[in-house]
Amino acid sequence: MLTNNGFPSMSNLGTTIDFSPTLVNRIAQAPSILFLTGAGVSAESGVATFRAADGLWSKFRPEELANVDAFLANPQMVWEWYQSRREVVLNARPNAGHYAMAAFEGVIPETTVITQNIDGLHQEAGSRDVVELHGNIRKNFCQGCGKRYDDVDFLTEQLVQQCGDCGGMIRPDVVWFGELLPQQAIARAEFLARKAHVIFSVGTSSLVWPAAGIPLIGLEAGAYIVEVNPDPTPLTNHAHESIRGTSGDVLPRLLERVVGS
Ligand code: OAD
Repeated sequence: MLTNNGFPSMSNLGTTIDFSPTLVNRIAQAPSILFLTGAGVSAESGVATFRAADGLWSKFRPEELANVDAFLANPQMVWEWYQSRREVVLNARPNAGHYAMAAFEGVIPETTVITQNIDGLHQEAGSRDVVELHGNIRKNFCQGCGKRYDDVDFLTEQLVQQCGDCGGMIRPDVVWFGELLPQQAIARAEFLARKAHVIFSVGTSSLVWPAAGIPLIGLEAGAYIVEVNPDPTPLTNHAHESIRGTSGDVLPRLLERVVGS
């Protein structure tokens, strides 16, 4: 029997989900597993997703807020929008899905999270190996010279700040439309995808590349692909299994099932 190395028991979970024996065996025997996550995993923490009917991109225009031209044209407006998102993130706590992914490390030591989220909730839940593809809203850098400003003081600063070195505008460390992903992060994500035995795609619409390609790289390399999402996505037809449910509901039950196998 596998043990969960002292992570809290997740019994009392109510009705069961019939996970396939193939999935349970695959995980139990996997030397490494990978979670690719998107905004849906933070939905149960109160952080809005992007493409839901009431999601962020239904209320705000990405081209006016999440790109460098918008920032250079109106840095204060873009800064304020990110400060309001920071406020949400700073008040959010990880949910049962984040904790379950972290607890999988106690079962499969080589467990990695590749996330499109910028909220830092995986790390707060205890995940030790998190690859951030789209940056982290808690950090900053200078648009002019690239100097890092990860100082926590800026998190509640309402006025856009200027760089002490070059006078450039300081911006949140998030990837904007039209920008390249951090090279090291995407290279490591692709490496991990080729190596993982089971890849979970959790809470992402699988519409934004290159993140959407990570499970497909794994598929080609022989990984077992599992989607966890209340709704179908373009990945659904490529996945070995699609589990319809929320990450906060499905993942703790799956962990418990694997630990009990
Ligand atoms: P989306 O808003 O596109 O998709 C969220 C997905 O989560 C949808 O497929 C939902 O069905 C699913 N979902 C909602 N609640 C869930 C829950 N509780 N459990 C599991 N799944 C749930 O968000 P992303 O796919 O993350 O990029 O979007 C990708 C990128 O698009 C973001 O990183 C962001 C955005 O533009 C940048 O800002 C660079």
